[in-house]
Amino acid sequence: MKAIKNTAVIFALIFSNQIFADTSNTQADPEKGKEIATGICASCHNADGNSVIPANPTLAGQHVEYITKQLMDFKAEGDSPAKRDNPVMASMVAALSEDDMKNLAAYYAQQKSQPGTTSESDTSLLELGKRVYNGGNLENNVPACSSCHSPNGQGIPPHYPKLAGQHAAYVVSQLEAFRQASRVNDKNQEMQKAVLRMSAQEIKAVADYIATLQ
Ligand code: HEC
Ligand code: HEC
Repeated sequence: MKAIKNTAVIFALIFSNQIFADTSNTQADPEKGKEIATGICASCHNADGNSVIPANPTLAGQHVEYITKQLMDFKAEGDSPAKRDNPVMASMVAALSEDDMKNLAAYYAQQKSQPGTTSESDTSLLELGKRVYNGGNLENNVPACSSCHSPNGQGIPPHYPKLAGQHAAYVVSQLEAFRQASRVNDKNQEMQKAVLRMSAQEIKAVADYIATLQ
């Protein structure tokens, strides 16, 4: 009797795994993503995701998992508020299904990213940015950004986004948002802790350095 029960449990497990595998294997379609991207998102992020407005993030070459997560996070579900609070993007994702989001992510991930814009041409600030990015600031407990986002800024999927080539103005806005806890959708508050003791100058410097990475 016990053996029969166990067999049933095993069958149930195999069966549920099968269902899970089937849904997660649905191939994302970058062509469908492209239609939405060029029709709706291009005015702010450009057709290929290389935003020309420094306040708007470049999406080209970003990891599929990270883009999908952000689109989900911008969307409020039922009574629960959105995990990432931004009124503009909230209205953009309101009508998107999860499949739309995956298709969009697949499209942007395939695009080649262009170099980002820096806020300064001051090379001494770039030196400081490079130091903080690769070594942090031990005195103030600022961790090295490279430990999670990789030394060349390509990030580590699925959790750690690519930063290389991102516009400095957008990076500064996000670091400030994490520091002020107006952006709190980072798992285990990894980013909020990382930026807590950064000076305004370090933030500016590291953002400029990130924009120059390719
Ligand atoms: C009116 C301008 C505008 C439009 C149109 C727009 N976005 Fe955005 N998007 C923004 C801004 C501004 C941000 C930064 C939000 C913030 O500061 O948190 C952003 C952020 C994002 C992010 C997060 C990027 C990151 O690195 O974390 C994604 C992904 C994104 N947008 C995708 C889209 C998609 C897909 C569409 C079309 C369905 C779209 N956006 C349409 C302005 C826009
Ligand atoms: C312990 C790991 C960790 C460290 C160290 C870390 N980050 Fe992050 N970072 C993350 C995670 C995780 C996210 C994605 C949060 C999410 O899912 O929305 C992120 C997101 C970001 C973003 C937002 C990207 C976007 O497109 O919106 C920026 C900018 C960023 N990090 C910069 C930095 C900088 C600069 C440093 C160094 C001072 C740093 N990070 C150190 C884990 C880390």
